[in-house]
Amino acid sequence: MTTFADQCTQTALYGSTDDRPDGAEWATPKSFFDKLDEEFGFTLDSCASATNHKVDNYYSKEQDSFSLPWTGIVWCNPPYGKEIGKWLQKGRNAAAQGATVVFLIHARTDTRWFHEHVYKIANEIRFVKGRLKFTHQDGTYQSAPFPSMVVIYRPPCLKPKII
Ligand SMILES: C[S@@+](CC[C@H](N)C(=O)[O-])C[C@H]1O[C@@H](n2cnc3c(N)ncnc32)[C@H](O)[C@@H]1O
Repeated sequence: MTTFADQCTQTALYGSTDDRPDGAEWATPKSFFDKLDEEFGFTLDSCASATNHKVDNYYSKEQDSFSLPWTGIVWCNPPYGKEIGKWLQKGRNAAAQGATVVFLIHARTDTRWFHEHVYKIANEIRFVKGRLKFTHQDGTYQSAPFPSMVVIYRPPCLKPKII
């Protein structure tokens, strides 16, 4: 049984299960994605559905992205629940194998996952100014109740040399 104290610990370490009410389905604002797509040229949307995918080539929940290969230039706006560290680890592993992986996630810099997978680990962190307006499935949108960041993992051969 999960107690209130457990929930508080969980929230403190990982952030809440998902800050977004219907969380996992909040889609990235198209104009925000398009700018990044112009820069990176994504070849896979690794977390998507038939109605919200940003790239023709995508993995859905039913297919389960965790069990599929992430190759090429990967876009990932994952569910922000307690598995976020697992998503980031998947991205890191894919980058180690040659993929470039770009995440859009909430900027929770006090969480365990931020310190284990992002801070001083990712090749780049871009903190988003202002709040993104995520899109609901019915086409309406809503300002995020949290700050966002773009986290980029690049393949080893593309990493800047640290001296
Ligand atoms: C926050 S939405 C992002 C949608 C879209 N990629 C975008 O950027 O607008 C996350 C999506 O991941 C899907 N998802 C959840 N678990 C997944 C899994 N194990 N494998 C693939 N997709 C998953 C959800 O159904 C949802 O459509």
